[in-house]
Amino acid sequence: MTIDHTHQIKPLVKVAEKAFLNAHAPYSNFKVGAAARTSSGVIVSGCNVENASYGLTVCAERNCIAQGVVQGAVQFSQLVIYTKQETLTPPCGACRQVIAEFFQQDGVITAVNHLQQQKQWTVAQLLPDAFLPDHLAK
Ligand code: THU
Repeated sequence: MTIDHTHQIKPLVKVAEKAFLNAHAPYSNFKVGAAARTSSGVIVSGCNVENASYGLTVCAERNCIAQGVVQGAVQFSQLVIYTKQETLTPPCGACRQVIAEFFQQDGVITAVNHLQQQKQWTVAQLLPDAFLPDHLAK
C-alpha cells in the first residue's frame, strides 16, 4: 500500500493539537482533535463534541470533515487524529465510513499523540470494500 508523503503532516499535527484543546468531552474525558488537508490544500480542524444525551456525540474526525465541507471541500488527502493517550486512536467505524466518502482509497490517515508517536493507514486499509456513492442505484 502506498503512503503519500507528498505533504508533511507536521502542520496538521499542530492544528489537531489546538482543536484537541477545545474538545467537549465531559462524559468520557477522552478528548480528540483532528485536522485534515483538503484537495485544494486548505487545513481544517475538528474536535469531539459530546452531549448529555450521550448518543448525540460526534467524533473529532466527522466534525473536521464537516468543517471542510462547510468551506466547500469535497475531497481531502490527509487526516490527523490527535489524542493525549499512550495508545494511539484509530478512527471509529462510523468515521471510517465518512472518511471513505471524502478521501481517495490511498488517502492517508495518521494517529498521533503527545509523545510524538504515530501510526498511519490508507483509507483502503481502514475500510476495505467500503460502501461508496457508486454503489447506490442510478
Ligand atoms: N472519539 C473521537 O472523537 N474519535 C475517535 O476516533 C474515537 C472516539 C470520541 C467520541 C467520544 O467523545 C469519545 O471519543 C469517547 O468515545
